[in-house]
Amino acid sequence: MTTTDARPTATDPDRSSLRLVGADTVVPLVTGATRRYVNLDYAASAPALACIADAVNELLEWYSSVHRGAGFKSRAATAAYEGARESIRRFVGGRDDDAVIITRNTTDAINLLAVALPEAVRVIGFAGEHHANLLPWQRRDGCTILPVPATPAELLETLEAELHPGGGQVLVTITGASNVTGELAPLDDVSALVHRYGARLLVDAAQLAPHHPIDMAATGIDYLALSGHKLYAPFGAGALIGGADWLAGRPFLAGGGAVRLVTVDDVVWADLPDRQEAGSPNVVGAVAMGLAADTLAAYGMARIEAEEAALWAYAREAFTAIPGWEHYRIWPADHPRVGLFTFNLRPYAYDHLAAILSAEHGIGVRHGCFCAHPLMIRLLQVDGAEADRLMDDIRAGGHPHLPGAARISFGVGTTRADVDAAADALRAIAADGPAWTYARNEASGEYEPDPDPRPMPSLPFAMAAEHLRSGEST
Ligand SMILES: Cc1ncc(COP(=O)(O)O)c(C=O)c1O
Repeated sequence: MTTTDARPTATDPDRSSLRLVGADTVVPLVTGATRRYVNLDYAASAPALACIADAVNELLEWYSSVHRGAGFKSRAATAAYEGARESIRRFVGGRDDDAVIITRNTTDAINLLAVALPEAVRVIGFAGEHHANLLPWQRRDGCTILPVPATPAELLETLEAELHPGGGQVLVTITGASNVTGELAPLDDVSALVHRYGARLLVDAAQLAPHHPIDMAATGIDYLALSGHKLYAPFGAGALIGGADWLAGRPFLAGGGAVRLVTVDDVVWADLPDRQEAGSPNVVGAVAMGLAADTLAAYGMARIEAEEAALWAYAREAFTAIPGWEHYRIWPADHPRVGLFTFNLRPYAYDHLAAILSAEHGIGVRHGCFCAHPLMIRLLQVDGAEADRLMDDIRAGGHPHLPGAARISFGVGTTRADVDAAADALRAIAADGPAWTYARNEASGEYEPDPDPRPMPSLPFAMAAEHLRSGEST
């Protein structure tokens, strides 16, 4: 397939700030050939922006302990760390009095909120969420999980039925963009409804933040969680932003840095944000995340959104014409979404397909259930009896082959050439099947090339090669 790429590429001067580390990496194929790696797995974790990698190198010269060091480097590192906090606030349109807490990632941020939240707060969530926005709430008393809504209107109806005037303190939690379907939650409507009933809104923005402008103040988002590694800053930091009153409760972690004074049997906890940042903070990760937010904002999140929407439409046309293509969505096809496709290519098992794409075509996609089992059970129409049978089998120590799908996801480095490569590969697989042999790995239960002659890259990956050889990989 030959096309003219209407999307600006990383070599365009205008887009040079979005250049990614590893954009031209060449990977081995099982056939012995090599190929430029086509990364279509941004939704899981995005490569670093090259300017962020450079900035991290610069920062390392000044790296030092933050907050309690009088040394000049400590003061410089502290200024950078606190500056990153403000960049994150700006990036998501946080209010001046919102707390901005640096976390490890979105999972950490939501678990933090679940611990800090006053006990009296009732939480309402949805079954279609990523486990990071489901399991922390499942553990709390007084949590209601609503079924996956068939339409955005049903979402609002079922939510309204759970909200009561004068119904006490309530937190409604929802993902801004689904990591399975890419569909955007109708945040303006949800926020208006939630606030009409005096409740508050938490948005899991792990998938929203890299693709879409966010304005917490204008939209009425009370709390928001995001991950730096999905924002092109894979250095281990995330953030939780929101109203200080519900964050100033129980510290998520107990330890140094989160206190004013400690005796052997008493403690006075610090104010926010320190209260919720016990332990030595991830200065490098936070600064990288703040700089990535500034870089994306300077390019323009609305531009990123528009470019990605055009690319998604282009890809949909190519993919839907492929025999066996089955695309999963909950809501109507024209509902706004971020750039991803969760799909199967019949008759291939999803893990077999992912292995073929990697081994024979150098294309990286995600496969499985995407940490959103209830939603996948619904999308794949797994009935209750089958879900129970799988649960029992796993509890009994079995490794059943779970139902699942493959996912293609876009980021700022994705081009039409990448989409064409994926479409060409899928078309070839649909027409001719795999050109290599694959076997299911007993330990992982997943398909792998058999044999797999691809050499692992040299140091520092020698340990990984060793690990793979010993058959311990999962
Ligand atoms: C929608 C959504 N929420 C939460 C998470 C968890 O993010 P993290 O693994 O960075 O904590 C993810 C990760 O894929 C996600 O897609």
